[in-house]
This record gives sequence, structure tokens and C-alpha cells, in this order.
Amino acid sequence: MGKIVWTEQLNLGIDVIDQQHLRIVEYINQLDDMRSNGSSREEIGWLIHNLVDYTISHFGFEESLQEEAHYLFLDEHKKVHEQFTQRVSQYQDRFDKGEDVSKALNSLLVTWLFNHIQRDDTDYAESVKVYLQHTNVIQPNALQPNKFAQIKKILFTPLFK
Ligand code: FEO
Repeated sequence: MGKIVWTEQLNLGIDVIDQQHLRIVEYINQLDDMRSNGSSREEIGWLIHNLVDYTISHFGFEESLQEEAHYLFLDEHKKVHEQFTQRVSQYQDRFDKGEDVSKALNSLLVTWLFNHIQRDDTDYAESVKVYLQHTNVIQPNALQPNKFAQIKKILFTPLFK
């Protein structure tokens, strides 16, 4: 069991963030599919690389929004992101060295993401919503171009072409 079913519980009500979380969920579910359908190590490695890359970009984007919104627990949230990134990097290293860690990594991603969105991300949602309402940057297209252009380019590129 390595899939996440998207439910209302995972919706923060912040479109740009919900879209990014949904994209990460798609990556995780794709990883589970690839593990079941006998995809090659190379294909799985490529997906893990993209999943981790995208997730780290999402963390940076989310932290920027929290900073703008003066979210009180930004430092704590950053620390949780850092610890998770280190943990996933260790799995990635082991995978690159030839260990079959894709199942363990898949389970970690499912459990961690679900809990993190429901607990930690939900905690900052209200602060960011208030900030977005007062700054008129509710839609991703309205985000300040200089600040977010590069991150947007990464985060809004279609997953599969
Ligand atoms: Fe959406 Fe804190 O990760």
C-alpha cells in the first residue's frame, strides 16, 4: 500500500499550495505504480529524483509565503522540512548505491506527507490566507513575478508531457 488518496482533509484552501501538494501526491502514486509494474531501476531513480526535487522546491515556496505572512512558527516549520529533506536524501543515497529502498521510501513519503499536511501545513494556512487576502495575491498568476518566477516555472511545469 503506497498510494495517497486525495481527500478534502488534505485541502488547505490555498490554491497554489493545494496544487503543489496534489502534484507531490501524483509523484508518490506514480512511484507506487512503477514499483508494481516492474519499471527499471533507472526509471524509478529518475522519478525519485524528480519527486525529491519538486518537494524541495515546494518547501522553499511555502517558506517564502510563510515569511511574507509573518507566520509565527516559520523556524519550526523550516526545521521539519530540513529534517525530512535529510531523511529522504539518505534514502536517495542508498538507492543510488544499489540498495532497493523504493518501498521504504514510498511508505515514508505517504505517511510523512499525509501527517505533515494535516498537522504542520494546516497550522500555517490561516496566517497565509489572511496575508493573501490583504495583498491581493490569491491566484498564482498574481504572485510577484521577480520573487516567484523561477519557483513557479519549476512548480507549474506539467508532470508528464
Ligand atoms: Fe507543504 Fe510544509 O510542506
